Amino acid sequence: MIRFRDVHFSQGTQKILDGVTFDVAEGEVTVVLGPSGTGKSTLLWLILGLWKPDSGVIEIDGQETRGFGEREWKRTRQRLSMVFQENALFDSLSVGENIGYCLYRASTLTPEEIEKQVRQTMQIVELDPDRFIDRRPDELSTGQKRRVAIARAVANCNPEAIFYDEPTTGLDPHTARRIGDLIMKLRDMRGMTSIVVTHEIADALRVGNCFILLDGGKIAYNGDAAGLLACRDAPVRGFLEPFLRDIEELAPRVEAIGGRRPPAESPGVMAGTVR
Ligand SMILES: Nc1ncnc2c1ncn2[C@@H]1O[C@H](COP(=O)(O)OP(=O)(O)OP(=O)(O)O)[C@@H](O)[C@H]1O
Ligand SMILES: [Mg+2]
Repeated sequence: MIRFRDVHFSQGTQKILDGVTFDVAEGEVTVVLGPSGTGKSTLLWLILGLWKPDSGVIEIDGQETRGFGEREWKRTRQRLSMVFQENALFDSLSVGENIGYCLYRASTLTPEEIEKQVRQTMQIVELDPDRFIDRRPDELSTGQKRRVAIARAVANCNPEAIFYDEPTTGLDPHTARRIGDLIMKLRDMRGMTSIVVTHEIADALRVGNCFILLDGGKIAYNGDAAGLLACRDAPVRGFLEPFLRDIEELAPRVEAIGGRRPPAESPGVMAGTVR
């Protein structure tokens, strides 16, 4: 669905991406790994056209984005949704208004229809609508805010793809696991093409089908989880090193599923509503 071909990108004199080529498979979760400052968020901003590459090609559904005008970007961005690294919720709006933001602005639905859709989306992200719809973001826990941000991305005019920037960073392990379950649930329920940018390797191995490791502006690894763990290349080993204990615990599971989807009855995948 999304292709990068030899993409170069700099910020001032700093080279961020130095010839990056990869594909994002439709209906799968592609994980982008890499140390801080390596350009993971930048990849997402480039896909959304918020920044432009210096050279190279980015394709969305076979269309080169290079020649897109405002109208094409607007249409494309309606099909793609982003969960930002810092959630980017509007503090002065309620949870319901945040989730329905795009619908209130862009759709022809009545307020009642929008509220119905917002409530349905809250059920998907397992936030009790009756309890949370009128709250303000500052009355929520970090994990609940993350769910609202994901709900807003889902409600965004039925996107075909969602990009999650560090969805589990800063969350306790239990909440991180449930956010990971939610990402897999959206992929499986809606066939959502997903990109998860993270440096949380344990969470990544649970949710990802395909893995890309960025290092020094280049792709140091592109493949499945088993290949990542077996890879002996220095940048890959260097990145994985601090996580080796976690990985030893996860490796048998990764081998067992071979980077494929967990079975539907996998524990936790359909966790209960947050109360
Ligand atoms: N607006 C900007 N102006 C100049 N440089 C920037 C800007 N935004 C990011 N950068 C630089 O681009 C590089 C890549 O940033 P990016 O945010 O993509 O990294 P990241 O891999 O997402 O890091 P993190 O894991 O910390 O979120 C960094 O070195 C950063 O300093
Ligand atoms: Mg980032």
